[in-house]
Amino acid sequence: MIEVENLQAGYGDIAVLNGVSLRVGANETVAVIGANGAGKSTLAAALCGLVPARGGRIVHQGIDVTATPAHLRVRRGIGAVLEGRHLFGSMTVRQHLTLGRLGARSVQTGEKRFDEEDVVALFPFLLDRLDDAVELMSGGEQQMVALARALLLQPQLLILDEPSTGLSPLVVRQIMKTIGTLRERGMGILLVEQNVALAAEVSDRAYVLSVGRIAHEVQAGEWEEFLADDQLVKAYLGS
Ligand SMILES: Nc1ncnc2c1ncn2[C@@H]1O[C@H](COP(=O)(O)OP(=O)(O)OP(=O)(O)O)[C@@H](O)[C@H]1O
Ligand SMILES: [Mg+2]
Repeated sequence: MIEVENLQAGYGDIAVLNGVSLRVGANETVAVIGANGAGKSTLAAALCGLVPARGGRIVHQGIDVTATPAHLRVRRGIGAVLEGRHLFGSMTVRQHLTLGRLGARSVQTGEKRFDEEDVVALFPFLLDRLDDAVELMSGGEQQMVALARALLLQPQLLILDEPSTGLSPLVVRQIMKTIGTLRERGMGILLVEQNVALAAEVSDRAYVLSVGRIAHEVQAGEWEEFLADDQLVKAYLGS
């Protein structure tokens, strides 16, 4: 679904991604884990086209999108909820959902699309809050609005940058459950997550990002072994 080869990116004189290669297949949930400052959010933003690639390639469904602008990547099926969520404070939930619908990829005949009923089924509280401004909502509620908007874009690949950060355990549970549901629907998911235990719970496999490079890969079936290896976890994640 997406293949990244030797991706380089940075800000000004700072090189942040120093040749990252990874792939996410259809129906796969793949985690990117790594310590603070490893470059995880830069990677997520570069895949969406919000940070330009300085080298390497991003190939989505066989097409090179390395230089494709962000809004056209969305139209091709790369959706995301990035750090900071990028909501419009004074706009209502309904308006955010409309934004999702307007930017959506055209789904193929026979393909199941996400409509408003689907997102309300995932996050029932939205139904009573459609006319509320998002700035009046809690962090967890805002995260769900951001997810709902992203789903209405009809992504085939959904990139989530630390969706659990700063949220209560109950909301984190709900978000992890949602990831499970999306995975069952066949969506490819790239989950950036600093909480390794959470990543292990919902992901098939993982890449460990360290100082802008993939330092380690956790293959399917290897999670338990990885988590048990204190030294490895400490070396890459600092905890
Ligand atoms: N807009 C920016 N301008 C300049 N430097 C930046 C910018 N955004 C990030 N950086 C730098 O790039 C490096 C990687 O940051 P990034 O946000 O990608 O890390 P991260 O792995 O997501 O960290 P965290 O776990 O804290 O979210 C850091 O050294 C950071 O200071
Ligand atoms: Mg980050």
